[in-house]
Amino acid sequence: MTRKIIFDSDPGQDDALALLLALAAPEIEVLSVVSVAGNVPQPLVTDNLLALLSLAGRDDIPVYRGCELPLIREQYTAEYVHGDTGIDGADIPAALRKAEAQHGVDHIIETCMAAEDGSVTLVPVGPLTNIGMAIAKERAIIPKIREIVWMGGAFDEPGNTTALAEFNAFVDPHAGAIVFKSGIPMVVLPLDVTHKALLPQEAVRRLAEFGSPVATACAGMIGFYEQYDVAKYGWDGAAMHDPCAVAYLIDPTLFRSRRMSIGIDYTNEETIGNTYERMDGSVPNATVVFDVEADRFFELLVSSWCSL
Ligand code: BDR
Ligand code: CA
Repeated sequence: MTRKIIFDSDPGQDDALALLLALAAPEIEVLSVVSVAGNVPQPLVTDNLLALLSLAGRDDIPVYRGCELPLIREQYTAEYVHGDTGIDGADIPAALRKAEAQHGVDHIIETCMAAEDGSVTLVPVGPLTNIGMAIAKERAIIPKIREIVWMGGAFDEPGNTTALAEFNAFVDPHAGAIVFKSGIPMVVLPLDVTHKALLPQEAVRRLAEFGSPVATACAGMIGFYEQYDVAKYGWDGAAMHDPCAVAYLIDPTLFRSRRMSIGIDYTNEETIGNTYERMDGSVPNATVVFDVEADRFFELLVSSWCSL
């Protein structure tokens, strides 16, 4: 049975790579795509999703424009990593169509309400604003959701935006807190795993040599956004943050995880966005992923992108 997902994202080159991976996967049916302001503001994230779907020949998948701002905090974007467009490095033509008229949050609610209990999987790979808003607006969606698979957070690994906070957690920790406390089953792919998933240069060369429009775009985007991490950490490859979330759905045996009760700090300015393990004996609310079988993961990525 294919997994029916709503992909919620803020492209972002690694968001783009994750979406393309989902489109290539026979295990996944992408019902719709919702944008959220994150790496770059609206409407860029929406335009990027439309352009990426068009590149992959999937103009049949509807795109919904989601939230423009975090629930409470000032907007914080990451052009310093992703460039002004969010997907710098590839020259992807703008889509000919526009986003749907309905708001992304209402689309999430409507889709969940029309679904069987436990049948919809949400895959947010950006700030959790849309999902938090949807839960706050209509709590009856909670039993409809099978699982939320989120790229975000940092546990044993330091943050990438502050010493403690990962970007997606830092941008909207209040939305994160709503989601974490909702009781919806969660899988979390934090920096602890994504920083072990650095795509080797050899894989980027393979993509460039393959030369299809999708593979060329992937190689270009990776070449652009790896520069930040190479300069900051001295790594020799781009961290495959958001593709980890999609790969988990395709083949969870690639990963090692542990059940944990987790929280997110949204009150203290110095530690805001910190994701942490609760030590109060509370029931686990998430499967947190800590390790990946990297070579098998990279093979899945490259072969998937080359199949589109
Ligand atoms: C996350 O933040 C964004 O920059 C990436 O798209 C990813 O979702 C990594 O911290
Ligand atoms: Ca992202």
